[in-house]
Amino acid sequence: MKHVCSVWTTLLAVAVAFCAFWVEINTAWFTQKLASYSTPNDPSQPDVTAVLLNWVRLPNVVQIVSTLCAESLDGVIKEIVVWNNNYNRPLVDQDFANLTCSKLHIHNSVENLYFQARFIACASASTPYCFIQDDDYLVKPEIIRSLRARIGTHDIYHLPPDEVLAGHVLSIESPSTNITFGFSWLGYGALLLRSNAESFLSLLKRIGASEEETKMADNYYSILKNSVPEIWTGHPIPLFGGGDFTVGGEGVARNRKHIAAATNYLDQIVATDAGSDAWPYVSLPSSPVEPQVERSPCLGRSCVLESTLQSLPDAFATAEATRRTAMELFAREAQLSPVLTPQFTSNYVNHALSRAVDADPKTFFRSFQNATEGDTLVFDMLDNVRQLNWTGVEWLWLVDSDMAPILKASTVSFSPDKRSWVESSGSVSCIPYSVQPRTLECRIPIEGASIGTARYFRLRLEKTFLLPWRIYETRLQSNGSGLRVL
Ligand SMILES: *[C@@H]1O[C@H](CO)[C@@H](O)[C@H](O)[C@H]1NC(C)=O
Ligand SMILES: *[C@@H]1O[C@H](CO)[C@@H](O)[C@H](O)[C@H]1NC(C)=O
Ligand SMILES: *[C@@H]1O[C@H](CO)[C@@H](O)[C@H](O)[C@H]1NC(C)=O
Ligand SMILES: *[C@@H]1O[C@H](CO)[C@@H](O)[C@H](O)[C@H]1NC(C)=O
Ligand SMILES: *[C@@H]1O[C@H](CO)[C@@H](O)[C@H](O)[C@H]1NC(C)=O
Repeated sequence: MKHVCSVWTTLLAVAVAFCAFWVEINTAWFTQKLASYSTPNDPSQPDVTAVLLNWVRLPNVVQIVSTLCAESLDGVIKEIVVWNNNYNRPLVDQDFANLTCSKLHIHNSVENLYFQARFIACASASTPYCFIQDDDYLVKPEIIRSLRARIGTHDIYHLPPDEVLAGHVLSIESPSTNITFGFSWLGYGALLLRSNAESFLSLLKRIGASEEETKMADNYYSILKNSVPEIWTGHPIPLFGGGDFTVGGEGVARNRKHIAAATNYLDQIVATDAGSDAWPYVSLPSSPVEPQVERSPCLGRSCVLESTLQSLPDAFATAEATRRTAMELFAREAQLSPVLTPQFTSNYVNHALSRAVDADPKTFFRSFQNATEGDTLVFDMLDNVRQLNWTGVEWLWLVDSDMAPILKASTVSFSPDKRSWVESSGSVSCIPYSVQPRTLECRIPIEGASIGTARYFRLRLEKTFLLPWRIYETRLQSNGSGLRVL
């Protein structure tokens, strides 16, 4: 289902809808989002079922099961279902003999149900959440823990930067006609609500989707939801092994055909009975629309970095005004194609936000726009300082040598809930870190009476600069730990 973006990004365009809303950056988005992050994970009650499809890459499936079965996910994953679509080659316990994984359940399907199988397996899970992924990528356990910590009332998709970009291209934001969606794959790692998988299957029946369309369920899932998906720019690790489902022009054409069919269904649904209970799964766009926030999960530890920095050209916002129906998706894509310069695309893909939290000091995040007053970065540590047993807090930065003034022109605050923020007075201090490239290691001590209850940490730029953000790595840590950036 994947590997289509390279084709898209050369032929077509990339866009995102809501740049217009960025003009008025305030902290409303912190509070708006809060309500949905309210399902804490009790480690003694793991509540996620992992669903994997097997076709012809069994060694990959074994490797992924081994990762999902790791002790570090004991508090999160309750069961791992391997759904074997390869009816000619039933799987037996012996195929996983080298793992001792009591969570593993093998389901041998009597026919190849393709991608529909993940939703069937999820709908019949005993847990409220399902983790879905393809068999050609690894998703690190700390990312799955972060997904679980943040899941609330909607699904979360984890994608590499090129697919995030493709998803921004394939989106329509037209609240006035009740059409609002963004396309996203599930195969790079997605945490779904079991109830969504179930109601999605009911919807496919209700709309009379053909057998072929139902098998290609992934192409329909995010579009028919009719809401802006929560997408994390992340770090899926490719596993090789051949047998890709989507290869070459034929696969791309098939995907686009089904994406077009999904938009056609959505237009019909919304035109006939928007907002009624007649259609399971489909939601009505929320208003007002939330401003665009980019999110990346950390590697090497569990946390999530959020950014309000503008990541896409202004042209994407203006392209939006004229779109009314879901089927205009490809017209919008074509309209935006000139904005997708190789320069822009390569920065987006190679210097995504995720590079600032990938625990690799050689890679860096570089913003598309110059650093602008109001630019905000927020860490969610998923637990508060007291639960983390930190003696104090410091925010570490490994940045380009000309970034020190930007950090010094920023205010730092912390919050237990993203609603009430306490400003910290700690000042920035920097020392040289490396000469080639010229980087600095900067520390910001974070202080305040209520620091023990802090879970969210925010940096807000109070001035505009004529250079982009360039962050090699950033992290929060206990002040007693004495660690350098890495
Ligand atoms: C289990 O591991 C052994 C030794 O590494 C290997 O020879 C064997 O093929 C493995 N079995 C399976 C089912 O993967
Ligand atoms: C959008 O949905 C709302 C709620 O069902 C409805 O009142 C409104 O008429 C719809 N708008 C359009 C343009 O269909
Ligand atoms: C914090 O300390 C308590 C008590 O020693 C321990 O049970 C808990 O696991 C620690 N938490 C972390 C995140 O290390
Ligand atoms: C860490 O911060 C706390 C609170 O600000 C302070 O009391 C403590 O001395 C600091 N520890 C170190 C090692 O800097
Ligand atoms: C950022 O500032 C530089 C220096 O003034 C300018 O040349 C460049 O065009 C600006 N970049 C953007 C995206 O506005």
